[in-house]
Amino acid sequence: MISKLIKFEILGDERGSLIALEENYNAPFEIKRVYYIFDTKEGVERGFHAHKNLKQLCIAVKGSCTFVLDNGKKREEIKLINPTQGLFIEGLIWREMKDFSIDCVLVVLASEHYDENDYIRDYDKFLKEINSVSIW
Ligand code: TYD
Repeated sequence: MISKLIKFEILGDERGSLIALEENYNAPFEIKRVYYIFDTKEGVERGFHAHKNLKQLCIAVKGSCTFVLDNGKKREEIKLINPTQGLFIEGLIWREMKDFSIDCVLVVLASEHYDENDYIRDYDKFLKEINSVSIW
């Protein structure tokens, strides 16, 4: 399995539910950045890149969307449908995102500040990077 889903403990009482995310606990890295994707237009696909160094925890806190993860050997689809689980992505993984519901709010916790140099946005370069890493 390429995907690593983290199931969060739901804290709650008769008033409703609450989930807490804590760095180096249920978010397994130091959190340096949080961003969210929302108002995604119908039919839009996003991502189409890998990261050299970044760790991310992606949570559909509202609505749903589908991730495609690709490790250069196989591809996997993971649908995020509720706020009680997060998709943890680390290492050289190509990701694509699709099938956003119109109400989807996708929150992403990230281990590094934004750095365009950490992106690999070309699939062939991604495959070359994978192969150069696996030699060692
Ligand atoms: P990008 O990561 O390419 O979006 P996606 O993978 O969801 O398709 O980011 C889209 C744009 O937003 C790009 O110009 C970079 C910018 N951006 C930031 O400035 N800071 C950030 O933290 C992120 C994630 C993106």
